[in-house]
Amino acid sequence: MDLKVEALYKTYSKPLSKKKFEAVKNISFEIATGEIYALLGPNGAGKSTTIKMIAGLITPTSGKILFNNSAHKNYQVLSAVLEGSRNVYWRLTPLENLHYFANLRGVPSRQIKEKSELLLKELEIDAKKANQSRHLSRGMLQKLAIAAALITDPQILLLDEPTLGVDVASARNIKEKIRSLAKKEGKSVLLTTHQLDLVDQLADRVGIIQNGNLVREGTIEELKKISQNYLYHISIQGKFKIPAEWKKIFIITEIKYHSEITEFEVDCKTKTGMSSILEYFSKNKLDIIFLQKKRDNLEEVFLRSLESKSGVA
Ligand SMILES: Nc1ncnc2c1ncn2[C@@H]1O[C@H](COP(=O)(O)OP(=O)(O)OP(=O)(O)O)[C@@H](O)[C@H]1O
Ligand SMILES: [Mg+2]
Repeated sequence: MDLKVEALYKTYSKPLSKKKFEAVKNISFEIATGEIYALLGPNGAGKSTTIKMIAGLITPTSGKILFNNSAHKNYQVLSAVLEGSRNVYWRLTPLENLHYFANLRGVPSRQIKEKSELLLKELEIDAKKANQSRHLSRGMLQKLAIAAALITDPQILLLDEPTLGVDVASARNIKEKIRSLAKKEGKSVLLTTHQLDLVDQLADRVGIIQNGNLVREGTIEELKKISQNYLYHISIQGKFKIPAEWKKIFIITEIKYHSEITEFEVDCKTKTGMSSILEYFSKNKLDIIFLQKKRDNLEEVFLRSLESKSGVA
């Protein structure tokens, strides 16, 4: 199911002050059926506020939220796992919790038993003992909250920091589950996390949000392209002395000489920088052994988006 958010605003009034605080400002994005969209941003950027508005838990100050282009939303198609809150009942066992949420949200009773057991197994939730959920570890509770969200077989899934507090193996398990929900079952997934490796491996598209604004959006490849760098890794045959004039225009780092090869990294700063370096090599008949543009990782792209936008209100 297609989820569309159009010009969403959320303004809070500050206690004892006439000033309003805009937590979310003019945010628009769309998530197609089967797509995984990740919202990234520093603490307090407005990610959870956006998720809560989509989930219908807080009312937007203005803007539209559409499911399949319709403003008449049927919240039955949506499930959310919210940050911090483990939406499970502590006195019930994990299985009872899943039965409870399934009943509450109208899952046909003949499906409940099978679905609950399958989810407990798939997410490797420790439910063997007739143990109350309050005895579960933090990570287990998080996985149970995800299972409770999935029991209704939602078309739209909102996950606010789904892997917070879970161990490495569980995080991988949750990651694979999210991937299969989107790619095999066609669910639309909106995800927030501070774990950029998770986003790199999972998200089809990313929105970067800062101070309530969506400052960048695109596929991971697109974002890496937008935030261009001109960093190169070069290896030259023989002992190569960096020309003095280069030091004025470029930034040279990590010069190493080994096995009769000089290796260094250069930040050409501009698009045309590399051509003057190549010209120099050719004029001086130097043998290039290796030349490669350094690729950004998502973390660098993310941080650079914030730097380039900082100062913009
Ligand atoms: N009920 C509220 N009243 C006033 N301000 C609020 C309220 N809820 C959130 N805010 C403020 O709105 C801003 C956005 O908060 P939000 O929880 O959406 O951030 P976030 O991007 O999810 O951050 P984090 O990465 O820390 O989870 C913050 O400055 C927060 O203090
Ligand atoms: Mg949050």
